[in-house]
Amino acid sequence: MTFEKHDMDFLAGRRLRRPRMAGWSRDLMRENTLVPGDLIWPIFVIEGQNERQEVKSMPGVERLSIDLAVEAAKAARAEGIPAMALFPNIDPSLRSEDGAEGINRDNLICRTLSAIKDAVPEIGLVADVALDPYTTHGHDGVMRGEEILNDESVAILVKQALVQAQSGADVIAPSDMMDGRVAAIRGALDDEGLEKTIILSYAAKYASAFYGPFRDAVGSGARLKGSKLTYQMDPANAEDAILEVEQDLAEGADWIMVKPGMPYLDVCRMVKDRFDVPVFAYQVSGEYAMIAFAAQAGAIDREAAMAESLMGFKRAGCSGILTYFALDMARKING
Ligand code: PBG
Repeated sequence: MTFEKHDMDFLAGRRLRRPRMAGWSRDLMRENTLVPGDLIWPIFVIEGQNERQEVKSMPGVERLSIDLAVEAAKAARAEGIPAMALFPNIDPSLRSEDGAEGINRDNLICRTLSAIKDAVPEIGLVADVALDPYTTHGHDGVMRGEEILNDESVAILVKQALVQAQSGADVIAPSDMMDGRVAAIRGALDDEGLEKTIILSYAAKYASAFYGPFRDAVGSGARLKGSKLTYQMDPANAEDAILEVEQDLAEGADWIMVKPGMPYLDVCRMVKDRFDVPVFAYQVSGEYAMIAFAAQAGAIDREAAMAESLMGFKRAGCSGILTYFALDMARKING
């Protein structure tokens, strides 16, 4: 944009503070709003009855047994939260090289999905497709030596997606970053009469330091051998995100996720501007932990920082946000 001399005179006289003076005019000018309907609440599930365990690296977050997860779903629904995402922390004895427990139709996640679907049918349930909570090495796929095998992993991930969808998952969210998994999962779902199951692809998923607390929560962190750099994306790249999104859409993804969130708001915006599809962001465990610990130390205001961080996602064009703050945020909005 170029300015002529008379434009500059006009700009010189403009008072941008004028409409900021009163609450009512700030309300009128507000470009973005955040409502409970924007939020997806990720929770961690454990075995047991009336059992809760704090996640030490995520102050305020607990792992819940299935009965308490059902209560959490009721609370979420009561606050207008549309959906939850479920992650298991399973017994070490059930973890294996190939993550076979992930495709067990009776595993912790499948039982949680059906329990919540029975009790709170109106809440959307998102199931994560990746093997890391089930493997002894903490990787999202199967390994040969140091390598994470692509096609062999996809074959297992497809089975994992199927048992989850059959157990009541409304949304299948592949977070594994293997090539070709969206097409394979879509095909298998359709073959099984599950054509209504939505695919929310973790399309632009970066190899991030901000997943640390999550790996603690699902118990994969201490096990993780090496890094996930051969399948998750390099934080230096944005163009690569466009390729990933393009590919996953071509393979049949309904919705797209960018993850982590706050360090990748530029990617959310790029994807939103480039493709006419709903874009979701995951404000991941480390982002939650930064705010929660800083607030605990008295350095920032927890509620204000939570609200501001989540509004950033709306400004960046996101349709929804996965956040561990979901219930707190919805309660704050609802008053
Ligand atoms: C599994 C998965 C991860 C997260 C969601 N799904 C961890 C990882 O890829 O290592 C991280 C979420 C968070 O940090 O909150 N593939």
